[in-house]
Amino acid sequence: MTYQEVLQNAKATIKNCKVCPECNGLACGATMPGPGSKGGNAHENWKAWRRIKLNIDTFAPNTPVDTSFSLFGRDFNLPLLTGPIGTMLQYSDTDVTVAFNDGVIQAAAETGIIDCFGDGLAPATVPGALASMEKHGAAVIPVLNPLPNAHILSLMEQIEPTSAFAVAVVVDSAGLGHWKRISSDEGPGSKTVEDLKQLKAATAKPFVVKGIMTAKAALQAVEAGADAIIVSNHGGRVLADAPATADVLPEVVAAVRGKTKIIVDGGIRSGGDIFKALAIGADAALICRPFATAWFGGGSEGVRVYVEKLQAELAEAMYMCGARRLSDIGPEMIRYQK
Ligand SMILES: Cc1cc2nc3c(=O)[nH]c(=O)nc-3n(C[C@H](O)[C@H](O)[C@H](O)COP(=O)(O)O)c2cc1C
Repeated sequence: MTYQEVLQNAKATIKNCKVCPECNGLACGATMPGPGSKGGNAHENWKAWRRIKLNIDTFAPNTPVDTSFSLFGRDFNLPLLTGPIGTMLQYSDTDVTVAFNDGVIQAAAETGIIDCFGDGLAPATVPGALASMEKHGAAVIPVLNPLPNAHILSLMEQIEPTSAFAVAVVVDSAGLGHWKRISSDEGPGSKTVEDLKQLKAATAKPFVVKGIMTAKAALQAVEAGADAIIVSNHGGRVLADAPATADVLPEVVAAVRGKTKIIVDGGIRSGGDIFKALAIGADAALICRPFATAWFGGGSEGVRVYVEKLQAELAEAMYMCGARRLSDIGPEMIRYQK
């Protein structure tokens, strides 16, 4: 199956998404519910990576490129994480979230990348995705919503004895006001450093905080004990007019590089974009929406096809910019276009 075929197939079953040749947040625009964003902010994320160019420099030994990556003592084939999607009802009338999680987790295991899955509503609950993780032997990070700490702690208790690779809390979901309105339970809300310290203390696994958009928040996540942060504005879904993640990444890198692992998401679509993120100083990149279209277009095989495309593009960018290992990638290899 080619990536073009994957996209073509996806068009037959997906809803609310036009399966654009490159997912750039334009056709879905400000549609929420659905896979869009507030104020069309997903497009701003995508556009910011387009302004960054790759500096061709082939003065380097003609040796093979190695995209291998290591995080928290485990080795992967490339510095890539799949993004969590709490409910696939954003993309279809029937709830396919369980099958989506299972397919992406399987492909993550097969391609040697990290899967992040969302903290969904029944039937797509955390234990179900953990069962898929054990079945496929994947490196998986459950991404828990910022509900009251007692609720998060009860989920963490179930995660702790499993082989989950790490555990994450997504703090920017505090902005998901529509959820507050439809749920009779207490909805998501903001967290303090003390709240996060309590969660960090409850796990022996690496603790990840997703939804960091300022240097101050990055420093506070580090203070709370975050082993990794994810620079993210939730794909533009939690606040209109938030800056693009590529634009805040340099400030976050300046503040916390070396103190925690830095992952970035939002509009990253190609291996070239992953290269740019690493050149700015991120350790890895996370991609979300294109994994949904890849899965609709070909199940776990569609996801595998997309990951293979990303790996080939990353290897090409490294080769052409003179990097042979990820650690060779540096800021001199990119240029900001005015
Ligand atoms: C339909 C949809 C549902 C999402 N659900 C979650 C979620 O449950 N938890 C979470 O941490 N992030 C969620 N996100 C945000 C993504 O994981 C990710 O941060 C963001 O979409 C990355 O940007 P990209 O889609 O441009 O790659 C969701 C995004 C979309 C589009």
